[in-house]
Amino acid sequence: GKVAVLMGGFSSEREVSLDSGNAILTALKSKGVDAHAFDPAETELFELKNQGFDIAFNTLHGSYGEDGTVQGALEALAIPYTGCGVLASAIGMDKYRSKLLWQALNLPVPPFVILTDTSDFTAVEAQLGLPMFIKPAAEGSSVGVYKIKTVGELQQKYQELRDQHMHGEIMAEKFMSGGEYTCGVIYRKAFPSIKIIPQNEFYDYEAKYNRDDTIYLCPSDLIPADEQLMRDLALKAFEAIGGGNNCGRVDFLRDADGKIYILEANTLPGMTSHSLIPKSAQVAGVAFADLCIDILKTAYE
Ligand code: DAL
Ligand code: MG
Repeated sequence: GKVAVLMGGFSSEREVSLDSGNAILTALKSKGVDAHAFDPAETELFELKNQGFDIAFNTLHGSYGEDGTVQGALEALAIPYTGCGVLASAIGMDKYRSKLLWQALNLPVPPFVILTDTSDFTAVEAQLGLPMFIKPAAEGSSVGVYKIKTVGELQQKYQELRDQHMHGEIMAEKFMSGGEYTCGVIYRKAFPSIKIIPQNEFYDYEAKYNRDDTIYLCPSDLIPADEQLMRDLALKAFEAIGGGNNCGRVDFLRDADGKIYILEANTLPGMTSHSLIPKSAQVAGVAFADLCIDILKTAYE
């Protein structure tokens, strides 16, 4: 069939999506797939049918593309698409409701507080300690994430995020000093974990896409029992949001004692040359183009 690689879109991660999409497009073509770029910001989605596309390879990160909206539209158009469906996408995009789900299953998540205009910021400091993180509950690529060192800063960044009309909730989250990790999954199997050592204060947008000094350890530094635990938690966390056989990536933090906490699940993980899943797939012996073909097959699940 004719494959539309959906890329670009309307979110704050548009540029990342174009990078992911172009990498995937090249890979699919190298495997002989009849693939073409399709940007819903330039052509209306319902044109897919008129242009003769049979399948959508979705690589639209962030709102509209990763949150169930496009998935619903593709269902309505009866076009098979790669990746998570409406429900898993909607939950995965919402860090707050993902955490509620994981908490209900007794899966470990860092302590957090949803901030509102009537929040007592001093009480939030007492609860979470400093430094802490503040972030929009429904963004990706660390857009709008800040490390906070004083209560004044917490109040100011909260206001800033509100003023930027970031939709949805804003959450404060406990800082954990034991390192940042991630673990990709596909077909209910986990790739080796990656440890991320940013040269910035944390793995922010800069460290993700614009810097070449971020260090990625894969295999990571986990002892075998912890590696097993992290892979297990990645599979459980992804299963809990309804990820099924699809490709996703679960991000983790460790505390000072090395205990592992689930940070978030990404239902449309980045596929750029800087991205994490392609790195761990490589370590597992899966070349990028083969990974893209595996993901393409999820459209028929
Ligand atoms: N949100 C970015 C694309 C990621 O999770 O890789
Ligand atoms: Mg994310």
